[in-house]
This record gives sequence, C-alpha cells and structure tokens, in this order.
Amino acid sequence: MSGRPIIVFDSGVGGLTVLRELRVRMPDRRYLYVVDDAAFPYGDWDEDALKARILSLFGSLVDAHAPLAVVIACNTASTLVLPDLRARFDIPFVGTVPAIKPAAEQTRSGLVSVLATPGTVRRDYTRGLIESFARDCAVELVGASRLAAMAEAHLRGGALDPDALRAEIAPCFVERDGRRTDIVVLACTHYPFLVGAFRKVAPWPVDWLDPAEAIARQAAKVIGHTAPDLPEGFDRAVFTAGPPDYATRRLVHGFGLTAQG
Ligand code: DGL
Repeated sequence: MSGRPIIVFDSGVGGLTVLRELRVRMPDRRYLYVVDDAAFPYGDWDEDALKARILSLFGSLVDAHAPLAVVIACNTASTLVLPDLRARFDIPFVGTVPAIKPAAEQTRSGLVSVLATPGTVRRDYTRGLIESFARDCAVELVGASRLAAMAEAHLRGGALDPDALRAEIAPCFVERDGRRTDIVVLACTHYPFLVGAFRKVAPWPVDWLDPAEAIARQAAKVIGHTAPDLPEGFDRAVFTAGPPDYATRRLVHGFGLTAQG
C-alpha cells in the first residue's frame, strides 16, 4: 500500500467536516484533501458543465496520486456525478448524499427538512431518495444560496450575521396540523460548521443531522483493513485555484494539512 492516499474532495472547506471523522475511523491513513475552489460554489453550476469538470479533474487526480479510495465529501457533487465516477475509475468512490433515510426513520412529527445547496435540491438523485425512503414523511427541500460562502468566511475568522442566517434556515421550520419539523438534514458538508449558530437563531429546537460519522463508517468498510502505513509529516491540501491565501493556509493547518497550490 505504501502511502497511497485517500482523496477527500470538496469545492471548499466543507469536506473537512468529513475528513475529521475519517481520521477518527482510520487514523493510520494518508489523506489528500482536494479543494476545487476555482469552481466554488458548486451549488449554482449547470449540471452538465459541472459533471464534465469533475470527471476531467479526477482524470488528472487519479493519474497523479493513484489514490487508495476517494471520498466525495460534497453532496452537490455526489448527487450528480457519483455513478459516472464509479463507472470510469477502477477505485472505490464513497459519496456524501442527503441523509434522508435516517431522518425518515428518526422523525417523530413526520416533518423533515433537507438543508442543502440549490444544486442538491434540484437533483433527481435527491428526489429519488425521498421517493425510496421518506414516502411517509413530508420533506421540505431548502436550497440555501448563501450558507456555504458564509461558512467559508466564518472559518477564516469572519463574523456571522444572525439575521442572514435566520433568513437562510427559516424555510426549514414548518408547522402543520399542530406538528412541527423535528429534524433538519445537513445536506451540505459546509453546514456542520454553522450548526452552533443555527441553534441560536432557530425558532425551535430540532435535531440537526450531520452524516459525516456515517460516511466515515462506510468509507472504512469499503476500504477495509490493509496494513497501517502512516508516513511521517502532515497530510496535504491542494487547491485548483492555485496557492491559497494566508487565512486558508492557517485554516487547513488547523486540520493537520499543509496547503499546496
Ligand atoms: N460542500 C458542498 C456540499 O456538500 C457544496 C458547497 C458549494 O460548493 O456550494 O454540497
């Protein structure tokens, strides 16, 4: 195996919420965190253009790094391109898709909301998950256009505007026939970074479902137990927009990553 990395991929820093759980499950692995920041945010992209971009990017990444496996730590990408990636490359791809099944199993009120990017909300894949697993629930799909960028800024030290946050999450909170939404699925990997702030501005308490731990469990299952081989030194983060600024370098350093352009 000798140091073949697990690639963890996102359009921004959201995938770090998945990376930290992967490290808990598989501490002996080498990780390569790949940020497609040149294309951030993915939420507003045309589907065909985004699919072509990600497939071509992985052509180069797989050639250059021979990864052991890839974790697409991004719902907006996974719900679009996961089947094509699996068909094209002969390595395991683990995706991040909205946790609609566990939400439907756990809700008591039957009112569940999915907080995602506008792209994830539009996907047939997401609608298919609702059809397959949440037919008995009322599922509210909420495409938030600003939250991923707010998370990016917040992690680099920027202040959060509570009114803007409140407005973005407000459509998640539904009251119907004396019942209320009791679960909000965090269906964008950036959002767990904001969950403390969400709790402060939410009109009532709900469970915020973060699938990162389940993704890490699935990744560990798929990758299996090969000999541990943690090489010395930090894992790396690479950025499609080129060398990142100081705030970003410092941020990823806090997650045990050395930034490279
Ligand atoms: N982190 C990504 C996701 O899980 C999306 C962020 C974006 O590019 O809009 O969907």
